[in-house]
Formats: sequence, C-alpha cells, structure tokens
Amino acid sequence: MEPAAGAGKTIAVGVTGGSGAILARRVLELLIGAGCRIHLARSRAGRMVVHDELPSPDGSDGLTGGLRTDALREWGERDFHAPFASGSHPIDGMVIVPCSMTTLGAIAHGISDNLIRRGADVMLKERRPLILVPRETPLSSIHLRNMLEVSQAGALIIPPVLTFYQHPGSDVSAQLDFIASRILDHLAIPNDLFRRWGEI
Ligand SMILES: Cc1cc2nc3c(=O)[nH]c(=O)nc-3n(C[C@H](O)[C@H](O)[C@H](O)COP(=O)(O)O)c2cc1C
Repeated sequence: MEPAAGAGKTIAVGVTGGSGAILARRVLELLIGAGCRIHLARSRAGRMVVHDELPSPDGSDGLTGGLRTDALREWGERDFHAPFASGSHPIDGMVIVPCSMTTLGAIAHGISDNLIRRGADVMLKERRPLILVPRETPLSSIHLRNMLEVSQAGALIIPPVLTFYQHPGSDVSAQLDFIASRILDHLAIPNDLFRRWGEI
C-alpha cells in the first residue's frame, strides 16, 4: 500500500478568532487524512468562533469532533511546553487558519504572548514554512502593513479568496477545498482537491 502523501510530516495548526472555523476543520481533516501528525492550538477567541460557527448538537467539539485523535494533540493557549514553542523541535510547517488581524499584528511585531504567536515566531526565526490565512474585509492600511511585514519576514499569506475559474457555482465546500488545496500545496502535501489551471 502507498504511504499517505503527508506521512511522517509534523504540522502545527493554530486556530485564532478570525471567522472561518469551517476552513480550519477542513484543513485538519485533510492533513490528518494525508498522514500528518498535528499539534493544534486555539486562542480563546478561536474557541469562541468555533463555538459560534461550528455548533454541535451533541456537545462534541465542532473543530475536532469525529477526527482521528491518534494523529492530533491539542495544547493550551499558553502552554509553552508544546514542542513547536521551541526551534530545537523539528517541525515541517505551521498554518494559522483562520488568522485574525490581532494575531497577524502580534506576529508582525514579534509578540509571542501565546503559543500560536510563539509558534509563528519560531517558524520565522528558523526559516521554516509559516502559512497565514488572514480573514478580514475590508483591509485597513494597518492590516496591509502587517501583512507586508510578515511576508518580508518569510511567512506565506494565503487569504481565503474565492475561486471562479473552477466554476464552483454556489458550492461552498468547493471553495473551501480550493483554499485548503493551496495550503496543502505549500506544505508540500500532494493533493487533487481541484482541477489545476491547464487541466480544465
Ligand atoms: C464570531 C466572531 C468572528 C470574528 N471574526 C473576525 C475576523 O474575521 N477577523 C478578525 O480579525 N477578527 C475577528 N473577530 C475578532 C477577534 O476574535 C478578536 O480581535 C480577537 O482579539 C482575536 O484574538 P486572537 O488573534 O488571539 O484569536 C471575530 C470575533 C468573533 C467572536
């Protein structure tokens, strides 16, 4: 049997208080499905957004409920004992999805006062892949300046922008998969979630 595409990779996933918890869930699902090990952290506001946007009638966690738990370990918002809080721990990449403007601003200014921000700071200093999925509209010049700052420091910004050339119609799940696939691409995890340009 072929090993899963991401087998052996360890990815940190941060979920902050931007809107878009459903995208975070889809990314977790895909990373775990690809055979990755996940270190997960969510901010207090991230927890609120999950509660609001992924309500679960049976009381299970809307973000991780039903996902394979042997591949996933969740850390507290300020638990700096998590492996990805230190550059000495090998990790293949980090994605912050959704990334609020608060977290973006903190990362842009080197403020590591919670585990997600510290993880991002470590990825930048170690020159490892850091993907931010910022969610806000419209964007102020402060937001744009912070994005330029983190981009110049080495982060990759993948805004959750809609696709149209895929002809998704009104299919939200196709939009989610389009964005998720761009995230997986940049973590070097092969995927065929959508038809590439040139294949249409
Ligand atoms: C339901 C809900 C949706 C929100 N959506 C956004 C958003 O899309 N973008 C954003 O920057 N902040 C959004 N916020 C506000 C952030 O959660 C807030 O600024 C918080 O301080 C972010 O903290 P964090 O980055 O530590 O998670 C939202 C808050 C709630 C409760």
